[in-house]
Amino acid sequence: MGHLFGLGFVALFVFIIFSLFTVSDSCDFSENDSIFFRWLILLIAAINIEAKTKPSISNTKCLGNVMRVDVGPLGGKLLEVGAVINNSAILLTPSLASQCGFSMKIDNLGNAMIYASLQNCFAQNMKDEAFTTVFQLRLHGSQLAEDEIYQMAETCHYTAWACREIVCDHNYMEVSVKRVAPDDYILPKNPIPEAHKRPIDAGFRMTTITFFTPEEKVMKVIDAQRSGHGIANTPKRLVLRSPKAAPETYTQNVAGVPMLVVKTSTVFEKKWLVTRIDAAAACPIQEGSVFFTANTITWYLPRHIDPLISYGQPKLLEVYMGIDGQRLDAAEVEARRYSLTVTDAYIISVIPIGAVGGYFKSHVQDGQYHVSYTIEPMIEMFWTEDATHEGTRYKVFFPITTPLLPRPPQVTDRESHHSRVFVALSQQSGCSSLSLAIFAQMSSQLKLGATVYSLHLVFGLVVLDDFVPFSHTAYVQATLENIVPPSVSGGCDYQNFYILVKYGTQGFNFQTAVGTQLLTQTLAQQYGFVENGTHFSFVVPFFDPAVVYEAIELSSIKSRLDVTLRNLETNTIIKEFSVACNFISSLTECFPNGTMTALAVKLESVPGLNPSQLTLRDPTCGPAYSDERYAYFVFTGNSCGTTRKFLPNMMMYENEISLPDELEAKRASNSEEPEYELKVSCYYDINTTYAVAFQPRQRRNEPYAENAKGQLQVAMRLALDDSYSVFHRVEDYPITKYLQQPLYFEVELLTPASPEVSVELENCWATLAEDRTSRPRWNLIINGCTNPVDQYQVIFHPVWTDARVQYPSHFKRFEVKMFAFTRDQEDLSRQLFVHCDVMICDARNPLGGVCKGQCVNPDNRNKGIRLRAVSDENKFNHVSLGPIRIS
Ligand SMILES: *[C@@H]1O[C@H](CO)[C@@H](O)[C@H](O)[C@H]1NC(C)=O
Ligand SMILES: *[C@@H]1O[C@H](CO)[C@@H](O)[C@H](O)[C@H]1NC(C)=O
Ligand SMILES: *[C@@H]1O[C@H](CO)[C@@H](O)[C@H](O)[C@H]1NC(C)=O
Ligand SMILES: *[C@@H]1O[C@H](CO)[C@@H](O)[C@H](O)[C@H]1NC(C)=O
Repeated sequence: MGHLFGLGFVALFVFIIFSLFTVSDSCDFSENDSIFFRWLILLIAAINIEAKTKPSISNTKCLGNVMRVDVGPLGGKLLEVGAVINNSAILLTPSLASQCGFSMKIDNLGNAMIYASLQNCFAQNMKDEAFTTVFQLRLHGSQLAEDEIYQMAETCHYTAWACREIVCDHNYMEVSVKRVAPDDYILPKNPIPEAHKRPIDAGFRMTTITFFTPEEKVMKVIDAQRSGHGIANTPKRLVLRSPKAAPETYTQNVAGVPMLVVKTSTVFEKKWLVTRIDAAAACPIQEGSVFFTANTITWYLPRHIDPLISYGQPKLLEVYMGIDGQRLDAAEVEARRYSLTVTDAYIISVIPIGAVGGYFKSHVQDGQYHVSYTIEPMIEMFWTEDATHEGTRYKVFFPITTPLLPRPPQVTDRESHHSRVFVALSQQSGCSSLSLAIFAQMSSQLKLGATVYSLHLVFGLVVLDDFVPFSHTAYVQATLENIVPPSVSGGCDYQNFYILVKYGTQGFNFQTAVGTQLLTQTLAQQYGFVENGTHFSFVVPFFDPAVVYEAIELSSIKSRLDVTLRNLETNTIIKEFSVACNFISSLTECFPNGTMTALAVKLESVPGLNPSQLTLRDPTCGPAYSDERYAYFVFTGNSCGTTRKFLPNMMMYENEISLPDELEAKRASNSEEPEYELKVSCYYDINTTYAVAFQPRQRRNEPYAENAKGQLQVAMRLALDDSYSVFHRVEDYPITKYLQQPLYFEVELLTPASPEVSVELENCWATLAEDRTSRPRWNLIINGCTNPVDQYQVIFHPVWTDARVQYPSHFKRFEVKMFAFTRDQEDLSRQLFVHCDVMICDARNPLGGVCKGQCVNPDNRNKGIRLRAVSDENKFNHVSLGPIRIS
């Protein structure tokens, strides 16, 4: 961008030069008025000044005998610079600029730097100490926008004038010499007698100037000014300024470095007095003084500039390096990686190409991309000469532009996870002026375990400031391992799922879901997540919410865990994995005290089930606790509709968990889910009167269970009296009793057993025949209680410990009055047999019914049906006695 407007600026300048020459050529200049004042008048009409104040984009620096105004960035606008005198602006054309001490440059970012000699033609000079220049900046907008015009007066103070000050600017050479008092003035080789002894005051007029080219060329001062030289008197000094291109300059080789020299002697006259002042300047030219390597610029400036040394040996006192007219201190020079060396013959500056302070510009040559690097170093020297002790301050602004440096574009390819091949075009200079079009053809080729992608690229590029196209071709190849997706494996033990995930070729770049939940960091921690760079593993307990229950089987639950791996970017499923296992369940617990618990779990097949609505057979028995996955029931053997069944040596308590009928009906009408019915059973081993339900392990470890193993033998005997000390022996039968005689029965547990075991009589009855199932029968004890319809009721006798009785609970005693079955009045039967169903109970944990104690609940007696038609075959210990005859 900057270059574009730089060119525009130059083009405009050319146009104005011609117009000015046309005008000025026709003018007649009077002697003492400087040429510039004429121009001023001409331009007043042309420029209608309507100036704003200083633009915010400008900044002024006083740099010794020079000032610099920075304007910008111009933002694409064209800048015209003028100087203002008496409220009129004069446009600074290139020739006017070099004659009057102005120069300007615009860098690649569109920042303009305007340099002005403090002693420029338009400066208001206050005693050679303060110098004010009024600038007018005109920013040309686009065709539609109005121009912006700014006026700014900039003042610099400079009092440290050396006897001679030389400035080499881009376009002119300036020398300012003190119009010394004649007494101090030491004549050069060619003295002019008389005149030099007198001061050159205001009374003196400049008349002629002699240029040594090196041949002497004498011109009237006015003619010299017309041909582009600036020659002026200030209060104390003579200022001579010559455009570098002026024919009065010549080239001289100084210590091997070509320099442009202007050498003058100006004659001052006052009446018959005549004196002259010599003034000379010499400035290096780039050719011959700058040397380039691939990475550096080296500039040789002669230490002794012979054309400027009039007499004696110069003594170099100060040397400074600077950039853009501004001195740098040693630390800054070092920080910018410049270097400054002073040898006997030269002042040598070395600047790395690309260093801070310069800029690159793009070029195309022979279809190849090139750059040039431009930087403007400055050297400032101060020396004195032995003979005079008068000092010379010498300052040179030295724009250096490297030759075109080939910078073939570099194509780099980078593989990344996101885009397989990333192609970047880069070159070292500022890339802002490069535009890029890519023509690419990609092909791929499969090799073993890998895919090779190759890309033929043609970059079409345009350097924007000149719109010069060029192209660059490149070939990129990338080999990619074929992608292997991650894999999942897993298994279970009796309580957990174990999942192991192996990464694929692309590493851990996926998301994991366990069941329906994302494996977040918190969850991972909960699952004992472990990762080692190639695998990770975690453990999910079978009761975890992520686990689904597929079926409830006899002693286990079939459970399943689903693990899903998803691509993070595309959200597609990479891998689905399920593992199903049977876990030994403890869904039902049967406690020896008759309490049962059951956990109903929601199965995957009945997603619509609300576990809190489940009940036992008795619909009023709902869960003690429930949530969305479980319902937990607590009930006993004689509640909630629990039934009991006698199996050989076993008692089975049974209940069912299901939805109440009306809810089930409603659910069935709304969904096709199967009916939910969970049977709950507890088995109690009669041999041990103990539960062998779902958790036999722990229970069997109890000492009681061990003791009670094996067949328990029960016997029934008839005592002679209520002392229960003497009994009828087996061989005494049939024994004879008269009607109404009390019969003292005793039932005893014969097998040694724990004192905790008790003997309970569930039913006792009498029959005529020996067969206990025979008819007729007469009930004596029903469900542990006496038969209420018996007029001679059974009397239970307590049992106390004595010599024979160690554990009273192992005994039961009852008394019945001898009776006879009356088939009819005449035929009294002669004998009877007595039978009992005996229950052996765990005294600590009565199961309900008779086990709670002999006839604790007399109301149960009549509910013979309560025994639910338990058949006699299913009964357990039974004892019989008889025959007993009636006398
Ligand atoms: C500018 O103004 C000064 C004083 O105000 C005057 O001496 C000078 O002649 C003026 N110059 C021009 C060119 O009008
Ligand atoms: C990571 O763990 C897996 C499974 O335990 C094992 O097979 C693999 O070798 C381990 N890798 C490293 C790098 O330790
Ligand atoms: C039965 O035993 C279980 C477990 O020992 C206990 O939680 C429960 O409360 C007991 N029930 C009764 C009625 O004593
Ligand atoms: C109970 O004892 C009987 C007779 O000894 C035996 O046949 C049966 O297997 C035992 N039952 C259990 C559950 O141990």
